[in-house]
Amino acid sequence: MSNLDFDDNDISYESAQKYWSDIPATVDGVLGGFGFISDIDIEGSRIFLESLLSCNKAPCTDLALDCGAGIGRITKNLLLPYFQLVDVVEPDSKFIKTIKNYVGEHQSKIDTLYEVGLQDFNPVKRYDVIWNQWVLGYLLDQDLIAYLKRCRNALKTNGVIVVKENVTSSGKSEKDETDSSVTRSLQQFLSIFKQSKLKRLKQCKQTNFPNGIYPVYMFALVPIQEDYNSEDLKV
Ligand SMILES: C[S@@+](CC[C@H](N)C(=O)[O-])C[C@H]1O[C@@H](n2cnc3c(N)ncnc32)[C@H](O)[C@@H]1O
Repeated sequence: MSNLDFDDNDISYESAQKYWSDIPATVDGVLGGFGFISDIDIEGSRIFLESLLSCNKAPCTDLALDCGAGIGRITKNLLLPYFQLVDVVEPDSKFIKTIKNYVGEHQSKIDTLYEVGLQDFNPVKRYDVIWNQWVLGYLLDQDLIAYLKRCRNALKTNGVIVVKENVTSSGKSEKDETDSSVTRSLQQFLSIFKQSKLKRLKQCKQTNFPNGIYPVYMFALVPIQEDYNSEDLKV
C-alpha cells in the first residue's frame, strides 16, 4: 500500500489489456474518441521538446523511447522528426502490428518494438528521451515508481524522461472503471517523482485543449544526481 489515496486493488492490468484489445487501431481509438485534439497535442509537445533540446545540457537526438505507444501517434508525429531512431513499448499486439504501417515512410527509423506492459518492461538500452503519455494511469503506484526508477537508470548523459498526463483538479485521484485507469492529482505525481528520485527540469500545462477535459501537464524529469547510479543499468 502506498502513501497515496487509492489502493492496489483499484486497477487491474488484465482489465486494461482487455479494454484496449477491443479498441480500433486508429488515432480516434487511442484517444478515446478525441482524435480531433491530436494535432494540438502534438504541437504542444513539439514546443516542449524543442525547449528541452535547446536548453543547457540538452539531450542528444540519437534514440528515443515511446512508452504505451498505441499505434505510434507520438512516434510518427513528434519523435521521428527529431530522433535518429525510436523504440516503442506497447502491450497490445494489434497496436504493435499497426505501428510500422501507420508510421509509413520513416518506419525504418523504428528500431525495437517491445510488446510488454510498462510494469514488466526492463530497458536494456540507454535513451536520450523517454516519452510517457496518457499511459501512466494504468500503473499501480509502486509499479510506477519502480518503472520510473528503471527509466532513470536507462538515460544517457543529459537524458530526460517526459511525462505528459491528465491531472485531476480535485487534489485526489479519480478512478475510471471503463478502462481500469486512475487519474492522479498534481501532488500525487510530485510525490511519485520524488520517490522515484527524479526532479523536475521543466513543467508546462498544455494549452488550447477543449473545455471539459482534464488539465494535461508535461513534466521533464531528470535524476536527482546524488542518488543516480548509472552503473545500475545492465547492458
Ligand atoms: C490513451 S492510449 C495512448 C497512446 C499513445 N501514448 C498516444 O498518446 O497516442 C493508452 C495506451 O496505453 C497502453 N497501455 C495500457 N496499459 C498499459 C501498460 N500497463 N503498459 C504499457 N502500455 C499500456 C494501451 O494499450 C494504449 O495503447
